[in-house]
Amino acid sequence: MSTAHSLALVTGATSGIGQAYARRLAAQGYTVIAVGRRLERLQALAAEFPAGQIKPVEADLSTPEGINRLSEICREQPLTLLINNAGVSHYMGFTALSAEKAHELLQVKVMAPTLLAHAAAPGMVERKMGTIINVAGMLAFGATAPLGQAAGRATYVASLSHLLSLSLALSEELKSTGVDVQVLCPGIVATEFHERQGMDLSALPRMSAEEVVTASLRALETKEVVCAPGVEHDDLLREALAANLRAFGGQSPTLATRYQ
Ligand SMILES: NC(=O)c1ccc[n+]([C@@H]2O[C@H](COP(=O)([O-])OP(=O)(O)OC[C@H]3O[C@@H](n4cnc5c(N)ncnc54)[C@H](OP(=O)(O)O)[C@@H]3O)[C@@H](O)[C@H]2O)c1
Repeated sequence: MSTAHSLALVTGATSGIGQAYARRLAAQGYTVIAVGRRLERLQALAAEFPAGQIKPVEADLSTPEGINRLSEICREQPLTLLINNAGVSHYMGFTALSAEKAHELLQVKVMAPTLLAHAAAPGMVERKMGTIINVAGMLAFGATAPLGQAAGRATYVASLSHLLSLSLALSEELKSTGVDVQVLCPGIVATEFHERQGMDLSALPRMSAEEVVTASLRALETKEVVCAPGVEHDDLLREALAANLRAFGGQSPTLATRYQ
């Protein structure tokens, strides 16, 4: 596909995976609307490319104003690619997590991606082309995995499950419209993500943000809906999703014997 007139919007483009997406897409010829709160970083990123190719937009996605502002851009601009990447984790025990932090997390990881996709999808459907990428994480498959250095992460993990379910359901719903949906599920990536939480994971083997972006863009070519850059055997993903559907299909209107 020619990317000469392609327009992407990337949230969380001030660092890590979002910045790697923005750089890669701009290098491929996309015009990139790059979103984040740290405007100086967006401006520095824009300065790496010819004027106008990266368009910085300062917005705080934890606020309704920030989400509304971006939704308007998603509705009005002919986006070929929407990348819902911004995120915070607020790793801490559920009872220690303040309501404000829980709200911020859910705004950024649940409300913003859902509403931006909701704003962008009608135009994409009308144009019969477009792609929505939602950045979740392997924890969408690992709610009960060992906690490691995190004291807790229930709300964060739940937000990733939302993105996985949203993407799978949306992909089904839009499959004959020309619009593709991908949910990206990285494992641990070497970005500022954990550092900003006061966690040092530098001793652990970590994937680079650039590798994650390589996997995501390659998966667009092969039309993979669930892109898991670190999972060698993709049968595992298919089996996990098939097991969910088997459980779903295993229900009936009769009260199960163990409850009688
Ligand atoms: N790193 C990992 O190990 C890992 C693993 C699995 C999934 N992920 C997911 O990958 C995504 C990207 O994370 P990363 O690893 O690249 O981390 P990162 O380097 O910390 O980047 C997070 C990005 O999100 C933006 N962001 C955070 N809060 C925001 C807000 N209220 N409004 C607007 N933008 C906001 C940040 O920009 P500003 O602070 O400038 O606003 C930053 O650009 C996240 O959604 C995360 O859940 C990461």
